[in-house]
Amino acid sequence: MKQGPASVIINDEIANRVFVLRLEEPAQARDVRPGQFVHLRCGSSLDPLLRRPLSVLRTGANPRNMLPSGQYDVLYDVVGRGTELLTHLRPGDLVDVLGPLGRPFQIERTTKRLLLVAGGVGIVPLVALAEEALRCHLEVTLLAGFRNAGKVFPASLVPEEVEYVVATDDGSLGHAGFVTTLIPTYLTWADQLCACGPVPMLKALTGLPRSPRLPIQIAMEEHMGCAMGVCLGCVVPTRYGYQRVCRDGPVFPLEEMIWS
Ligand SMILES: Cc1cc2nc3c(=O)[nH]c(=O)nc-3n(C[C@H](O)[C@H](O)[C@H](O)COP(=O)(O)OP(=O)(O)OC[C@H]3O[C@@H](n4cnc5c(N)ncnc54)[C@H](O)[C@@H]3O)c2cc1C
Ligand code: FES
Repeated sequence: MKQGPASVIINDEIANRVFVLRLEEPAQARDVRPGQFVHLRCGSSLDPLLRRPLSVLRTGANPRNMLPSGQYDVLYDVVGRGTELLTHLRPGDLVDVLGPLGRPFQIERTTKRLLLVAGGVGIVPLVALAEEALRCHLEVTLLAGFRNAGKVFPASLVPEEVEYVVATDDGSLGHAGFVTTLIPTYLTWADQLCACGPVPMLKALTGLPRSPRLPIQIAMEEHMGCAMGVCLGCVVPTRYGYQRVCRDGPVFPLEEMIWS
């Protein structure tokens, strides 16, 4: 984990108010694993006071990504002041970044067919995981749900070997309805499932008619303060007591979670 200035390479809008920010910081690009995140200072002053966490989409450390080795991409949806400030970044600017942080996804040794389930920007760490899975010669299907067609993650950014199935809440693109309704079709095919998205989507995974042998990992996107395990601003209840999403997660086995 490193804290320091990263140089902005590009900051492009790829969907409606959704941007890809490419940063250059060789140690972070080298060390990050799928599911980990970086903590960015969004403004040049102390407003906003807190950094904002963003998952890493792809890194030049993976030769499949065709990025220079010291660079990596994050993707952000503009939802408030911090992410709005990020839209002002231009190539050559410096951003104070802490990371990589958190526990990554783990592909089980026996996994051959990996099912990924994403809600909104939860797709970011799953695309990173898909890249790793393809390097390990796994078959990968990615089911992804978005509010509407304007928010859909472009297929051109998903590795072409991945079966990419889109659902939109309003039916404006792909399957109409929640992404969770697509999962049962794939349950007998998959031998591991990894998911990231809003809590209601993750919670819905507990009710799936699945084999108890199907391992499920989820990545949480809780509100965060320090991201260093100190402030306890990100804790979630689990079977092992309260756990910090920033240090003990963001990736957890589904069966450990206690949903309120
Ligand atoms: C580990 C982790 C990884 C993340 N990865 C990504 C990513 O790859 N791309 C991305 O776009 N976002 C990601 N997020 C969410 C992102 O951090 C927030 O959207 C961002 O901090 C919002 O900052 P803001 O100042 O723009 O909005 P704020 O002004 O802080 O909030 C605007 C609105 O968004 C809501 N909000 C803020 N943070 C969250 C959150 N964590 N969960 C649910 N609602 C929230 C607020 O309640 C408010 O309604 C991630 C969060 C975590 C914890
Ligand atoms: S954000 Fe401070 S302990 Fe997790």
